[in-house]
Amino acid sequence: MPDSTFKRTLQYLLASAGALALCACANVAEDAPTTPEMPQRIATPTAKPTPEQIIGKTLTGRAMAAAADSRAVDAALKVLGNGGHAVDAAIAAHAVLGLVEPQSSGIGGGAFMVVYDATTKTVKTYDGRETAPLVAHEGLFLNKDGSTMDYVTAWQSGRSVGAPGAVALYAAAHEDFGKAKWSDLFADAEKLARNGFEVTPRLHELLANERLRAAMRLDDRPGSANYFYPKDLPLQPGDIRDNPAYADLMAAIATDGASAFYKGLIPQAIESAVRSGEVPGRLTADDVETYAIVERDAICGGFRTYKVCSAPPPSSGSTAIPMILGLYERMVDGTETNKDDRLKAFVDAQRLAYADRDHYIADQDHVMVPYKELIEPEYLDARVKDRFAPDETATAGDPGAVLSGKPIIDMWGRDTSDDKPGTTHLSIVDIYGNAVSMTATVESAFGSSRWVAEGGFLLNNELTDFARTPRINGKLVANAPSSLKRPRSSMSPTIVLDADTDELVMVTGSPGGNSIIAYTAKTLLGVLEWGMSAQQSVDLPNIIARGDTVNVEIGVDGGQASADTLKTAGYSVKEREGENSGLHVIVVRGEHYEGAADKRREGKAVEIVMTPAE
Ligand code: GLY
Repeated sequence: MPDSTFKRTLQYLLASAGALALCACANVAEDAPTTPEMPQRIATPTAKPTPEQIIGKTLTGRAMAAAADSRAVDAALKVLGNGGHAVDAAIAAHAVLGLVEPQSSGIGGGAFMVVYDATTKTVKTYDGRETAPLVAHEGLFLNKDGSTMDYVTAWQSGRSVGAPGAVALYAAAHEDFGKAKWSDLFADAEKLARNGFEVTPRLHELLANERLRAAMRLDDRPGSANYFYPKDLPLQPGDIRDNPAYADLMAAIATDGASAFYKGLIPQAIESAVRSGEVPGRLTADDVETYAIVERDAICGGFRTYKVCSAPPPSSGSTAIPMILGLYERMVDGTETNKDDRLKAFVDAQRLAYADRDHYIADQDHVMVPYKELIEPEYLDARVKDRFAPDETATAGDPGAVLSGKPIIDMWGRDTSDDKPGTTHLSIVDIYGNAVSMTATVESAFGSSRWVAEGGFLLNNELTDFARTPRINGKLVANAPSSLKRPRSSMSPTIVLDADTDELVMVTGSPGGNSIIAYTAKTLLGVLEWGMSAQQSVDLPNIIARGDTVNVEIGVDGGQASADTLKTAGYSVKEREGENSGLHVIVVRGEHYEGAADKRREGKAVEIVMTPAE
């Protein structure tokens, strides 16, 4: 049994903004469009079945896993094929990802998990976000002269490390939902670590990337240098890399539960890694030992005939995602729109939603966050009127003024913080119809580069997701660092339900720093609004409209056309390639699941069909 001594905040309330207008179904998009076709209403696409494996068992049913690495998906499918819960499968898969995809997430980092319980038809969320040390204060990233520490120094410093939350999240979610034996969930990760795993091209490319290598300290810190740069060369694709310390820790967690991570040797080793080297931090073993998972209310916004549910603050998901969808809906309804109009509506909805998210979202346990107000239909009705010209700058709205006549905008200064990609997303549905949407992270690529040799893992640099400049014109920003506070996240693990029946419709999410919000919203509009298949929605060009510039991915079908449309309309467009999305999507299509894995990464989506043994 896992250690269940973690303090747990239980406050479950499914808040829904309620059902909105019924859709008029039309227009089936069958083939991947060459430009982002944006039909106005949901259709029922002719979905091509995702690759599936038939497994003969006494159990029956279908299940699916989509994640960033095939070995993680295989670990999940093994659990699902033995009748495990989606939560069990997510734990097994993530333990593997922490080994084979260390650039993105791991047990030295954190995660948000959203769980759909098919029996009660309810959604529950787990906040496994990294937490600032007890001694942290708003000056965490200020130099002695009061100036703001530059990003690279902060990223590689011990100050960037928060107490990791991933293993505590595993334990809490398993205690609530687990069907598989906890001790069975770490076998694949242990075996791959003990025998060695094959290095993927993506891991190699990031290790070999000269710009990244110049900024990261991975190859001049002894433990990580030996592990990632044996003989001074980055691990090559196809190399077999073992990790005995990780294997031992997986075995210990399997036997002793999460206390194998949060008590004894590992917290001490984390403290040493944080305090060593240049710009040490002040996270203590005690900060790690007292880490507490938080179960938060699932928050669902209304979009057409759906409830769109994601993780509440400090995650941005439950605010920014329903805001984009709700604003989009209000911009296109009641007018004749062509596909260019719909593209501009998507962009403008993002610009308004990101402005609000940047201003208000932070750790709700430390500051007042109007996250329910921001998705109130009455606020969205008002906010959509703030739609502004392409060359203007977005400013935050004021839900206090709109909803109660009491302005709240000046409570906080305008935030300037940014975050970088180093994250992964898993979507899983089990044979009972339960689902998990989980996004996990170490923040930047390879986190803080601080290696915990005793456990064979890297520590996060999640605290750089705080505003490094805590005050703007003397006014504290909502996301300023503070003692035991959790930094704002863009991670948006999302589950969509039918608003009338609360049946599962879709599971989605992505890595990608603050672009996660735009990436995830794209798949939701693609499937729910534009009638696309899961894969078509993932394949759409990434279009991110935060701040004054619209970033448009041009290396994919429809990207250049979208960039040109927006430029002609007067937007400041930055054409980009090499997007960091890693969308993993599952859509319920009648009796089967349709999945999609982002071609920009290395993952897969596989459905298994269980048939009773003859
Ligand atoms: N570190 C990525 C995020 O939490 O948004």
